[in-house]
Amino acid sequence: MVTKINEACDLVIFGAKGDLTRRKLLPALYQLEKNNQLHENTRIIGVGRANWNKFFFHSIVKESLSVFMKDKINNFYLKKLCTRLFFCNLDVNHIENFIKLKNILNQKNNIIISYFAVPPSIFGAICRGLGAIQLNTPPTRIVIEKPLGTCFKTSQEINNQVSKYFKEYQIFRIDHYLGKETILNLLTLRFANTLFFNNWDNKIIDHVQITIAEKVGIEGRWGYFDQSGQIRDMVQNHLLQILSIVAMSPPKNLNTNSIRKEKIKILRALRHINPINFNKNIILGQYSSGQLNGISVPSYINEDNANNNSNTETFVAMKVNIDNHRWSGVPFYLRTGKRLPIKCSEIVISFKKPIMNLFNDNNKRLSSNKLIITLQPNEGITLQILNKVPSLNSEHILNNIDLNFKYSDTLDKNSLSDAYERLLLESMKGIQTLFVSREEVEESWKWIDTIIHTWDKKQKSPKLYTAGTWGPHESKKIIQQDGRIWHNINY
Ligand code: BG6
Repeated sequence: MVTKINEACDLVIFGAKGDLTRRKLLPALYQLEKNNQLHENTRIIGVGRANWNKFFFHSIVKESLSVFMKDKINNFYLKKLCTRLFFCNLDVNHIENFIKLKNILNQKNNIIISYFAVPPSIFGAICRGLGAIQLNTPPTRIVIEKPLGTCFKTSQEINNQVSKYFKEYQIFRIDHYLGKETILNLLTLRFANTLFFNNWDNKIIDHVQITIAEKVGIEGRWGYFDQSGQIRDMVQNHLLQILSIVAMSPPKNLNTNSIRKEKIKILRALRHINPINFNKNIILGQYSSGQLNGISVPSYINEDNANNNSNTETFVAMKVNIDNHRWSGVPFYLRTGKRLPIKCSEIVISFKKPIMNLFNDNNKRLSSNKLIITLQPNEGITLQILNKVPSLNSEHILNNIDLNFKYSDTLDKNSLSDAYERLLLESMKGIQTLFVSREEVEESWKWIDTIIHTWDKKQKSPKLYTAGTWGPHESKKIIQQDGRIWHNINY
C-alpha cells in the first residue's frame, strides 16, 4: 500500500555505467516501480561517458537486473521502468556539455535529484557543471556516498567542494546501514517500549557489543580497499552510526535535526584511542589464506592485483568508551572483519547481573540477560533470560532461554526492503533523517584520525588470522581483559 506518493522527480545518475548503479540503484528502482512507489511522472536519466542512446541504456538495465536481482523480473514492471529511462552522454570535465543534460530535464515540473554514483574526485567537477546551468537552485538535491574522505581534512575538502554549490538541506549523504529496516527499528525498540526505555544506561547495562562480520574478501576492490582498510571502510561510517543510535538519548521528536543533534553528542563524547591507551583498546588484523565453506581462499596479500607488502587491516576489534553520564563505565566492544566464518551484523546488549544471587545453592554464577538484535541476515530480536528448569524437584535449577522474534516468522518477506530502496525513496521525498550530516561525518573522522595516526606511528603490522576464523586471537584479549567474552554467533 502506498501511503505517500512522492513528488515527480528527474533522478540523474552520474556514473550510470558503474558498479553501484548496476548492483544497487537499478534493482532498487525496479523494486520501487514494482511497489508502486514512484510518481507517474518520475524519470531516470543515466549520465556517463558512452555513446549510448536510451534504448541501449534499457538493455543495460535489463541485463543488470537479471544479474543482480534475486527474484524473477516481472516484464510489466520492467517495461514501465524502461519508459522512465533516458541517457545523456556527458564528460563532466567539460562544463559546456552540461547544457545537454539541462535540455533533457523537466526542471519546470520535476524535482531534480543528482545521484553521484562516482568517486569523490569527480564531485567537484559535477557540482561546477550543475552550478553553471542552475541545477543547484532549490529545490534540487544531490545524493552522495562514501568514501567521503580518508581523514578529517579530506572529508572537509569534499564537503567544502559540494557545499560551495549546495546548501546542507540539499545534500543527502548515504550510509546504507541507515536504510536497513532493523536499524530503523532500533528507535522503536528503544523509545516506544518502556521496558527498554527505562533500562538503557549504566545502572542496568553492563556492556554492549556490535559486530559486523563478513564472509567476503575484497571482491576485486583491492585498489580501493587497500587505501582504505576496515577502519575507514566500516568503522568510520557503519559502526559509528550504529553505535550513535544505540547510545543516543531520546530525541525531542523524530525530526531530522532532533535525531542528528543527539547522535552528534555521542560522537563528541567518544573517548579517543590514543598512543597511551592504544594497545589495550584496539587490535588490527589481516587475513591469511584459509577455508570458507570448504573452499580454499587466498590471503589478503595474495588477492588479485594485490601488493604483497600491504599492511592494510581487514579486521578490527576495539573497546570504545563514551564519556557521558548515561554510559560512563559501560564499554562498547566493536568488531568487524572480512573473511570471517559467517555474514552477520548484530548488537548485543548485556545487562548487569542481579546484585544478590538468591539461587546460589544450585547456580553459583547467574548469567546475565542479553538483548540480541540481529540486523542481518535472519533479522530479529532475541531476549535471553534465566528460567527455572521445569521439574518436581524442590531445588531451583536455572537455564538460559531465548524469547525470540524473527521477522521471517511473522511478517511478509517483502516487508524487509533493501536499504537503497528506502534511501532513494526518502531522497525523493526530501526527508534527510536517514542521511548523515556534515557534522556527523566530520566528527567521526576526527575520532578515527587519532586511531589512524597512532597506528601509522607505531609502524606495526596487523596480526594475521586465518580466513574463515573470528579474527586474530588477540582480539579476544580486548574483551577478556575486562572479564567478558565475545558473544558466540552461531548460524
Ligand atoms: C560497504 C563496504 O560500505 O559495506 C563494503 O564498503 C562492505 O566493504 C559493505 O562489504 C557491507 O554492507 P552489508 O550491507 O552487506 O553489510
